[in-house]
Amino acid sequence: HLSVKERIEAKRRAALAGGGQARIDAQHKRGKLTARERIDLLLDTDSFVETDMFVEHRCSDFGMEQDKNKVTHLPEVIFYFFNIIFCLCLFCFSQDFTVFGGSLSGAHAQKICKIMDQAMKVGAPVIGLNDSGGARIQEGVESLAGYADIFLRNVMASGVIPQISLIMGPCAGGAVYSPALTDFTFMVKDTSYLFITGPDVVKSVTNEDVTQEELGGAKTHTSVSGVAHHAFENDVDALLNLREFFTFLPLSNQDPAPIRECHDPSDRLVRSLETIVPLESTKAYDMLEIIKAIVDEKDFFEIMPNYAKNIVVGFARMNGRTVGIVGNQPKVASGCLDINSSVKGARFVRFCDAFNIPIITFVDVPGFLPGTAQEYGGIIRHGAKLLFAFAEATVPKITIITRKAYGGAYDVMSSKHLRGDVNYAWPTAEVAVMGAKGAVQIIFRGKDNQAEAEAEYVEKFANPFPAAVRGFVDDIIEPSTTRKLICSNLEVLARKNHLSVVVQNGHFPL
Ligand code: COA
Repeated sequence: HLSVKERIEAKRRAALAGGGQARIDAQHKRGKLTARERIDLLLDTDSFVETDMFVEHRCSDFGMEQDKNKVTHLPEVIFYFFNIIFCLCLFCFSQDFTVFGGSLSGAHAQKICKIMDQAMKVGAPVIGLNDSGGARIQEGVESLAGYADIFLRNVMASGVIPQISLIMGPCAGGAVYSPALTDFTFMVKDTSYLFITGPDVVKSVTNEDVTQEELGGAKTHTSVSGVAHHAFENDVDALLNLREFFTFLPLSNQDPAPIRECHDPSDRLVRSLETIVPLESTKAYDMLEIIKAIVDEKDFFEIMPNYAKNIVVGFARMNGRTVGIVGNQPKVASGCLDINSSVKGARFVRFCDAFNIPIITFVDVPGFLPGTAQEYGGIIRHGAKLLFAFAEATVPKITIITRKAYGGAYDVMSSKHLRGDVNYAWPTAEVAVMGAKGAVQIIFRGKDNQAEAEAEYVEKFANPFPAAVRGFVDDIIEPSTTRKLICSNLEVLARKNHLSVVVQNGHFPL
């Protein structure tokens, strides 16, 4: 007979051993770390407090009773300290693939739900490290109920606390919907995949031959489907990047966006910007260069860098303060807006708005992409999502028109009319219904003096004055002063609060 103390020790040892050395070795052989090794890398040393180490699965079918020791020891609660200034607390669960393939039993789901409930109670983010064979087959509907319990919590927590999923192994079937409901889904190249049904089911239903990697690997989801926001080289790279990413986020929607000590002068003039926009209005340039030159220490964490590249979104800091950056990318499809870029932009803007992160928008947009593919795909309703997101956002909004702001896309891209707080134009800005050539073809159709008319149009509209004389941009600024002006405006706009937004709208709060 073991004493209670000995039994406690034995249970703890069993929990720490996971699915046993053979399965741990198999995990390593695949280039994957174990659930605990991942936690150790992600979190500051000794900052982590584990809960529910004694929870066991409750299934006695299919010989599972004998496997009681193979408990799903996964969710861990962590109190996480980055440094003395930012005492950041987060909750994290890490699925253990060495225990029943990380599959989700009722008890496994219960542990995750407990973590999520705690995170909601105190207002702290949840990070999920996913590595799971899906619903625990032996438990049937109990594991399906477990998924639904998690989904519901994902939904209730949405916009309240940041939720991040890092896919580090399989994630298939119903399991995919939890990451899909979280704010950001990151993947590890070659070792992770997400799909509703695997290659075998695909073959039997649609007769398509497709590999696991082609169907749901990191490349597919970060460049084709847009399901994942970033892919990293391996477990270590992913976890270290996740640490870095985490420093941009507030703990909840009740907290301000974090401010870090900044060594990059807020009044730094960026001379290179004076010549970055080509004289020829049809020539491309790289919006990323502008963004990196302006933000603190060129440090820009791009979200979805390989998907809908005609729009750039990501996080950076201005004078230490987290900001969300949105920019049209003239280098890809002339920076026009299409379905994918609208949805990518809208989702990002809504995240920033929910979590008190100011939005800086760089505009060079020739309009929405024409064509049947776009119209049939619903560009009208998807474009409306981006418009809606910018218009409803009440966080500080600063907009810089670097060159084209044409047509409806001018309105959409955080214009003054959608409650932009500060809107600037560079001298190279052209705010008009459309480009000179297209405009002249319509309004001077059949006339001989096309070249003359085009020159007149350019003189009249292809410049920032029509917008500036109407107050639709607050100033025409020297590009080199952009950083300085954004930083000083953010300082003032930090005082922006919901009340001022209500009054500005002319609604009296009842
Ligand atoms: N339920 C119960 N046990 C599961 C499981 C599940 N959904 N998925 C995996 N396991 C177990 C396996 O039985 C195996 O147990 P063992 O170590 O005692 O032999 C262990 O987890 C590892 O699985 P294995 O199949 O050997 O690993 P793999 O890397 O070759 O394949 C998967 C991984 C996920 C592709 C494969 O296990 C699989 O197809 N699982 C079922 C996926 C599924 O359809 N889930 C339901 C979706 S909702």
